[in-house]
Amino acid sequence: MTQVSPSLLSADFCHLAREIEMINESAASMLHLDVMDGVFVPNISFGFPVIKDVSNRCKKPLDVHMMIVDPGRYVNAVRDCGATLMNVHYEACTHLDRVIQSIRQAGMRAGVTINPATPVELLTDILDQLDMVLIMSVNPGFAGQKFIRRAVDRTRRLRQMIDERNLKTLIEVDGGVNLDTGRVLVDAGADILVAGNFVFSATDPKAAIAALAAL
Ligand code: DX5
Ligand code: ZN
Repeated sequence: MTQVSPSLLSADFCHLAREIEMINESAASMLHLDVMDGVFVPNISFGFPVIKDVSNRCKKPLDVHMMIVDPGRYVNAVRDCGATLMNVHYEACTHLDRVIQSIRQAGMRAGVTINPATPVELLTDILDQLDMVLIMSVNPGFAGQKFIRRAVDRTRRLRQMIDERNLKTLIEVDGGVNLDTGRVLVDAGADILVAGNFVFSATDPKAAIAALAAL
């Protein structure tokens, strides 16, 4: 079974309670929340008050993807919202090791996200500290973009690095995921698929999640 983390960015924000009920009843393993600051990425999404209310209703663990500069400033704020996992961008942290330590000290699982142009090999010296690596298969900032195919080879290379060292680090891939791209990503070694548009624009979102989970 593949783990699925639907991205709330593509949900109907006027009916968030209904969308979260759908997630609760679905085969999703977690809920992916995209936080943007308009600086690290050219878009702004939602922040802590929204995440806190989502957390109060959502029965699945929250997978928070921070697309902001210097995310280490907000470790306690993310924890206080009820997040299980905090993902920070490699490109946004000057002192990545310190940020990862503080996420773990705050009682959350720690993930590092890499943009499409950041080599997976740059994670060699931090990999054993990570619960998850999130490989971006689009340039972050928007839902509904075209899948960047190079992500498949990047997933394969990261899988090899993890397996060679017998680590338990999970590989999550985010951007342009559907049944076709999801299939090749799982074959390349992805553990978790993030999906925004594919889930929330489906006529039956629960069936879309179940189909990804069956890959
Ligand atoms: C993009 C976000 C993604 C996005 C995925 O910046 O990190 O999580 O919501 O959306 P789709 O699946 O539509 O590409
Ligand atoms: Zn994301």
